[in-house]
Formats: sequence, C-alpha cells, structure tokens
Amino acid sequence: MCWIFWYQGKDHDAKKILVHGLERLEYRGYDSAGLLVGNKEGEMKLVRAVGKVSNLASKVVKEIPDEKKYSFWIAHTRWATHGGVTEENTHPHHDRNKHFYLVHNGIIENYYKLKQELLAKWYTFYGETDSEVIANLLEDNRTGNFMETVEKVLGMIRWAYALLIVSTYAPDEIIAVKIWSPLLFAYSWKDEFFFSSDKQALAGYADKLIYLDDGDIVHLKGNDYQIKSHGIPAEKKIEDMDMESLEASKGDYKHFMLKEIFEQPNIIRRIFKWRADFKTNFLNAEAFHGMQNEAFKKIVFIWCGTSYNAWCLGTYRMENLAGIDASCEIASEYEYKHIKVSDDTLYVFISQSWETADSIEVLKMINQKWWHTFWIVNVVGSSISRLTEYGLFTRWGAEIWVASTKAFTAQITCILLLALYLWLKRWLSKAKYDKIMKEFSKVPRMIEDILADTVNIRKIAEEISAYKNFFFLGRQYQLPVASESSLKLKEITYLHSESYPSGELKHGPLALIDAKIPSVLFVPHDLMFEHNISSIQEIKARAGKVITISDKAIDSSDWHITLPSTIDEIYPFLTAVVGQLLAYHVADILGKDIDKPRNLAKSVTVK
Ligand code: AGP
Ligand code: GLU
Repeated sequence: MCWIFWYQGKDHDAKKILVHGLERLEYRGYDSAGLLVGNKEGEMKLVRAVGKVSNLASKVVKEIPDEKKYSFWIAHTRWATHGGVTEENTHPHHDRNKHFYLVHNGIIENYYKLKQELLAKWYTFYGETDSEVIANLLEDNRTGNFMETVEKVLGMIRWAYALLIVSTYAPDEIIAVKIWSPLLFAYSWKDEFFFSSDKQALAGYADKLIYLDDGDIVHLKGNDYQIKSHGIPAEKKIEDMDMESLEASKGDYKHFMLKEIFEQPNIIRRIFKWRADFKTNFLNAEAFHGMQNEAFKKIVFIWCGTSYNAWCLGTYRMENLAGIDASCEIASEYEYKHIKVSDDTLYVFISQSWETADSIEVLKMINQKWWHTFWIVNVVGSSISRLTEYGLFTRWGAEIWVASTKAFTAQITCILLLALYLWLKRWLSKAKYDKIMKEFSKVPRMIEDILADTVNIRKIAEEISAYKNFFFLGRQYQLPVASESSLKLKEITYLHSESYPSGELKHGPLALIDAKIPSVLFVPHDLMFEHNISSIQEIKARAGKVITISDKAIDSSDWHITLPSTIDEIYPFLTAVVGQLLAYHVADILGKDIDKPRNLAKSVTVK
C-alpha cells in the first residue's frame, strides 16, 4: 500500500534519504511515486513519476539540482484506489491555487459528495483522486490559522487517512493526522524529524519514535512539536528505535520469494527455540499463559488472504486436537454480521504485516464490545499488537515480498503450538500429543529434504505452464493448503485457479473438468487418502489431467510430486512448501515479475 515519508533537517543528503526510504519499501507494492520539497520562504517544488521509484529518482536528479535550498522533503508511493495510474493522480497533491500540499494514505469515503460541492463553487481538479478533494477543501475553508483550517476540514472528511499537510501560508509548519491508516512520528539527535507509514524506513536515521493513534494530530513548527489526541493536548510515549536497518538482499537466489521459501526450515527452528522443548515436550509459551479465560468454548479466527488460509487450517487444529469449536472468518465480510456478544469466545487475529485495514476494523469492533482477543503477530509495536489483550510474537523476521510464503508456515507453526497448548490444558491424550510433538520436531528437516531436490517440480512446472486454468483440491487439513497454493499461483503467474474441497467437486465444478484444466491434488497418505483417490478417479473419468502431491505413488496421476512421510497433522507443512515451489516455478518459466506482482501491495492499509 502507499507509503508516506517526511524528512525535515539540515542533512544535505535528504534526497538520498528519501529515495532510499522509498526503495526500502518498494516491496509493499505501489504504482507511482512523488516528492515535494519546500522551505521556510514558501517555495515548493513537486516531482512525480508513474512506475518505479527509480523513475522518480532520475527525474529528481534533473528537476531538483539545488537541493540545499530546501529544508523539508515529503515522499509518497501511491497504490491507486481512486483514479487511474497517471502522473496527475500521483501524490503529493495541491489545491487549485497551490497553497496547500498534501500526501494521503487511505480512502476518503465521502469524497464524491464533497467534490460535487466544490465543483459547484467553481473549484477545478487536475486529477481524479479522493485526496485532491482534501487539498481544495483546505483552501475553501481557510480561516487564516493553519491548525484551525485543518481541524475544520477533518470534521468534513470521512476516513481512512494518514495525512501530511503543508501550506505556503505557514511554510515553517507541517500538520500530520492519523485515522486508521498507519503513521509514525520520529526524530533524531541531529534535530531531524520524520513521519513515516513504516518503522522500517526509519531504521538507521531516527533515534526516537512515537506511535500515533487514531485521532492524533501532530503539529510541527520549526523544531517544536505538539500532539493532540481527539482535539486535546496529549503526552505520547516516546520509544527508542530498536530496529537495525534492514536491507533486502537476494543472496544467490534468483528471486526474493525463492529466498523466503528456502528460509522456512530455519524460521520454524527459531520458533521452536523460543516455544518448544522437544526433549521434555514442554511448550514454553508464556504468552499462552496470559489468556485469562482458558475455558472458553469457541475460537473465531479472523483475517484475510494467506493469513485467512492459515486460520482455516487452525479451525481443524482446534476442533480435532484441542476439542474447541472454531470457525474462520474473512475480515472484510465479518464486520457486516450481527454477531452475538459472547464471553466464552476467544477472537484470534494473525497477521504478517501488522497493518491490514480490513482486519483492524474488525478488531476495533470487537474491542468496543470488550470481547477476549488474542493475536499472533510478527511485529513488536504494530497496530494489532497494541490493540489486543494477549498475544504471541512469532519472531519469523520481516517478510519482504508480496507473495506470502514464510509467513504462512510460521503462522501454521504457531497455531499448532497454540492448539497443542490448549490440548494439554484440557487433558486430552498425552500419547497422541507426544507423537505429534515428535513429528513436529522433524518438520524443518523434512522441508529441507523437499527443498534439496526441486528438479521434478521444475519439470512439471514447465509442462503445466502451458495451461491457463487450474483446480487445487484437498480435504480436511489439505483444503487450506490447496487454497493457499491456488492463491500463490494466481498472485504470481496471473493464471486462473480455483480451490475446492475435493468432495465438493461433484456438486458443480466437475462440469468444468476436461483435458484443458489440470487439477492439483494434495493427497498425502492420511485418513483422507482413499476418499481422495475417488476424487482423482472422478476427474480422470472426464479426461481431466491430475497433478498429485503425496508420499504414496498414485497410478492414475499424470504428474506426481513425492513427499516425505509423516502423520496427518504434519503433512500441511510439507504440502504447503510444494505448493509454493510449484507456483514459483510456473511463474519463473512464464517470465513473470515474481517479487512485484502486478496490482498487489504487501500491506493492504485501505478497506
Ligand atoms: C498473500 O500472498 C498476500 N500477501 C495477502 O493475501 C496477505 O496474506 C493478506 O493481505 C493479509 O496480510 P497480513 O497477514 O499482513 O495481515
Ligand atoms: N486514495 C488515494 C489515491 O487513490 C490514496 C491511495 C493510497 O493509499 O495509496 O490516490
């Protein structure tokens, strides 16, 4: 999603800092980038470019040769929500008279009505964005006092936003506002000030950090700042920047995604190191102990995309292992349900990125009702971790590239740990628990075995890359893996794929099966094996092609990928990695931009 960054200071390398900051966050996905520079004399200069940050960087070199003239710099990467990907729609934006300039992350839901009102007053617009409406509203509602003007306009626009606003009327000031979209305020001992959507961009530059909450407004005037929360002056907690600067490097891998796939065994080992002692089968999960009400009767898992798929697997874990009713819900739909308040339900959130707007919306709704929440999150200090009661940090390190891989494996590792913890609390079979722990401990090694020889997967990918449509099928624990693998294929190959429970095929989708639509079947030698063989026969009987992923040879399959053998509960770790590799190799063979898939963003901070 879009990213905003402000720098104010005396460093004459500001241009470098800004472009570097934007490059660091390129992986998040965007379609255009822009920069505004200004000084106390009210001079402002705008540079915008469609496409990659490198396009902006080369324009900046030409168009801002005299950088010493400027004392503040605002950069923005846009992920278009309103209006096409054009230079006019690229941020920063300004009003018709070029008195107010701003960058915006988010969506102004009532922009259309406001725009019509401004058009009726003869305001003109050069672009189509909702953000440009805010700039003209500022001009239209100007009171002579910068802060007052901004507050007046905030009363008119309906969120979500993180906004940085400057004005030629008050050239030594900036006002930053946050409602829903992420925004941080930071500074360094060199009297440098920063605003950023992401902590990572500040690493190596800022020393102190303030997490802004919804309703916060920061007014920076020269080197003094004041923060108001919902209109009242507020003292905010100042934290040390605890992050090393994180420079992404592919090492010897052809793509970052492949690197992250190969990191998975060690990530699981790292989670084990913190959470599980396989000698004693003890779960060192102090975070789980924080759950006050371990007797809850139901767990609801809420999230989107890959994290949602991880949760769907979680429901099987909770039902089948911990003996607790569980359901998984898509966040962007859950908020439309009239949910009964229930004290014996635990709402569990999991996130890779920490800032997904759809999920945060549901989390806030649940918080208002004082229900119990638990999070499994990767980033200390993230919005989600600051909004939930109890939680578990996964410690799998930042996942950089758009297509989630290591996050999924880390999430399902943590969910299995949680299910095993709850299982023990409820005195279910210790013998079965020990057996799962034993196989669980072998997961990193088994994944390494899969990664050690991918020649067959590559060969199959070559052959199937000629097809345009795919089915991904699985039962029970393998259904969420089928969904996740199908999502991976879609995201990075742009081929059409659908995932279905294998048993559901005959209830409709079978009508599509012919020799042109291959089906990928996740069929390890588990309890579902015989049922899955029947599904394969149904497909073969209709001349369908079948790719099977199993530890058992399957005569009727057209292409087969062999897995190491383990127990039912553990197979998903192995099949998920095979699904990732298959998608990766098909995309590579098709020559797709794997690390920056079109139209997608890493952190989806708009609804
Ligand atoms: C998957 O490859 C995507 N990156 C996407 O589906 C992602 O999982 C989803 O947007 C949720 O993100 P989060 O876990 O960072 O909150
Ligand atoms: N809604 C704004 C636009 O379309 C901002 C989008 C974003 O957050 O990048 O320009």
